[in-house]
Amino acid sequence: MQPGNNSIKMLAKSPAGLEEILAGELRELGAKNIELLNRAVAFEGDKKLLYAANYRCRTALRILVPISHFSIETEQDLYTEIKSIRWEDYLGNGNTIAINSTVTSSVFTHSHYVSLRAKDAIVDRFREKTSERPSVDIDNPDFRINVHIYKDEVSVSFDSSGASLHKRGYHVSNAEAPLNEVLAAGMILLSGWDGQSNFIDPMCGSGTLLIEAAMIAMNIPAGEFREEYGFMRWKDFDDELWEEVQNDALEQQRTFEHKIIGSDISEHNLRSAYANLKQASLSKNISLKVSSFQDMTPPEGGGVMITNPPYGERIQVEDIVSLYQDLGDVLKQKYKGYQAWVISSDLMALKKIGLKPMKKYILFNGQLECRFAGFDLYAGSKRARYQTGDENTAPEASGE
Ligand SMILES: C[S@@+](CC[C@H](N)C(=O)[O-])C[C@H]1O[C@@H](n2cnc3c(N)ncnc32)[C@H](O)[C@@H]1O
Repeated sequence: MQPGNNSIKMLAKSPAGLEEILAGELRELGAKNIELLNRAVAFEGDKKLLYAANYRCRTALRILVPISHFSIETEQDLYTEIKSIRWEDYLGNGNTIAINSTVTSSVFTHSHYVSLRAKDAIVDRFREKTSERPSVDIDNPDFRINVHIYKDEVSVSFDSSGASLHKRGYHVSNAEAPLNEVLAAGMILLSGWDGQSNFIDPMCGSGTLLIEAAMIAMNIPAGEFREEYGFMRWKDFDDELWEEVQNDALEQQRTFEHKIIGSDISEHNLRSAYANLKQASLSKNISLKVSSFQDMTPPEGGGVMITNPPYGERIQVEDIVSLYQDLGDVLKQKYKGYQAWVISSDLMALKKIGLKPMKKYILFNGQLECRFAGFDLYAGSKRARYQTGDENTAPEASGE
């Protein structure tokens, strides 16, 4: 972060349950001093890494650059400390700001109030030093400033991402209850699929899992279709370095030899998937078909199936129990040689699949706590470990 810093301390925010995956992504990009936190990963690196983390991490929601840490006892402390930050070094005249606060504290109870006090402090400082003042623009600010208060500890950060990184730029059409792109990518990476076998989503909706899978398989950067990042409006934005980051990623793209197939019973939802695939220039790499999962047969050769069926929450289904029972039957009959992963918030319905999970993770789809369960459908002589009855006796796997 400006002004001229070689080693920058950064914080990548992630959905709960994906911290280790994100840490792995950052490690691959060369991050140092990685530390796993709750829904975040702290790390260090240079400005090139800041750009690369925004562009390439599939499981990061935002990359923050902390500029100040302090303790507070009173409301006034917050104002005074924020006012003492040299904002004029970062912001130019005429810049707009937006402040986002997260608060777990007895000093403050309302995050909106914290944002207002922080804004007052920044504006007052700026006006005293420059006789100008930044104005607030909630939707499209030049600078997003993040104030995080936990008990009496405050961190103030710049948000280098701008809009959340799940906004990849390819989602032009939504079906019902689409997955967040960061969660979809995290699910694929948790499953261990690396593009070396087929990938199937037989309830693909708007195609999020399929597109994220294709991007993983071909090593297309997460931000390939996105036009803007917060850091591009910073005083120290380095156009050449940004170009270098994009060229490095381009050199690492690869071809994909297997199949990525999506199907959905709803023609309307599949139309959204087509539109999104087209936007991502991936129509040639992914096949789509209108079909119920019951009628769909995966290609031979094995691979990974990942799906996000209705939970009966946001999408009402007539008989949720039969749907999951059918899914279990179809997996046993047609998916030999595959690993199948299902995410759902309906734990009773998940048990109706009637297979013993090899692994289970807790993930959140929006506010809904879900299980992401993986089943190994052995090919050949090894039989899938079918369960009898409803009782799920699987040991809690790593990740839970
Ligand atoms: C939660 S949505 C999937 C959303 C998708 N992951 C996305 O990101 O857009 C569930 C999908 O399952 C589909 N579906 C429901 N019953 C089905 C069935 N029997 N066969 C195939 N698709 C089905 C619905 O049409 C819906 O698109």
